[in-house]
Amino acid sequence: MRITVLGSAAGGGFPQWNCNCRNCAGVRSGTVRAKPRTQSSIFIRPDDSADGVLFNASPDILEQIRNHPDLQPARAVRDTAIAGVVLMDGQIDHATGLFMLRERGSPLPLWCTDAVEEDLTKGNPVLRVLSHFCGVQRQRIGLDGASFSVPGVPGLAFRAMPLSSKAAPYSPHRDSPVPGDNLGITITDTRSGRSVFYAPGLGAITPPVFDAMASADAVMVDGTFWTDDEMKSLGLSKKSARDIGHLPQSGAGGMIEWMGKLPRATRRLLIHINNTNPILDEDSSQRAELTRAGIEVCEDGMNIQL
Ligand code: MLT
Ligand code: MN
Ligand code: ZN
Repeated sequence: MRITVLGSAAGGGFPQWNCNCRNCAGVRSGTVRAKPRTQSSIFIRPDDSADGVLFNASPDILEQIRNHPDLQPARAVRDTAIAGVVLMDGQIDHATGLFMLRERGSPLPLWCTDAVEEDLTKGNPVLRVLSHFCGVQRQRIGLDGASFSVPGVPGLAFRAMPLSSKAAPYSPHRDSPVPGDNLGITITDTRSGRSVFYAPGLGAITPPVFDAMASADAVMVDGTFWTDDEMKSLGLSKKSARDIGHLPQSGAGGMIEWMGKLPRATRRLLIHINNTNPILDEDSSQRAELTRAGIEVCEDGMNIQL
């Protein structure tokens, strides 16, 4: 299978429109060596197929499609390579791009949990609004770990697990999490047996989560923050990384430590990187630390062949 990183930044993108943190100001002025990034989304297709699955629909989806002409195979007067959309959560940066797909001629096949469907019907009623356009053909992702497939994308199997992270700030249950607010998904190429574990929002690594990570050939996981107090110390928020459902990379019990326990051959990638994170600066000591640990930082346009 081929995984294309359409967007690798967390909510807000990089640089963020109103931000003058060291990274955002530096990438604008050219004084920090870093690559601009759109909001997090990946596209996965089997090797011999034009069509694939979009994971998350970011507000930057139209720019991401323009940047990837293969997402527009042009086999008919209206066409797309997006056979279906899978949502990892109902966050603004992962779900509001659904509005941009409204010109479809048929309902959009959409996989999400009950918790996310409820948020996208009540807290932020994207699905109700879309029903006045193409509508969605909603498919339920259960939390029992059962494998599912996406019609039109043969050869890929999907298996979801609930994660400890956070529902979107607009969610009626933002502060009382329910299973299914956030998912990790293992995608397996059924012919080669190769797999990736994808979890762009991951607040805590429980034994089942670590097992799923260790069983995959590659992990693409939460790279939002370097330190737990990153936003607090910049005066940008009163909340820590863990408070908003993101496990930081550094420190005891952080993502680097967990990734160090994976089998040697596991490919390790961070995605959903916040614009404040020093790892975006390719000359930073933090980026060098990741490189030494064999951890890659996703960037827009990256292809991962598994
Ligand atoms: C998050 O991942 O915590 C959210 O995307 C934040 C946001 O919506 O800005
Ligand atoms: Mn996010
Ligand atoms: Zn910034």
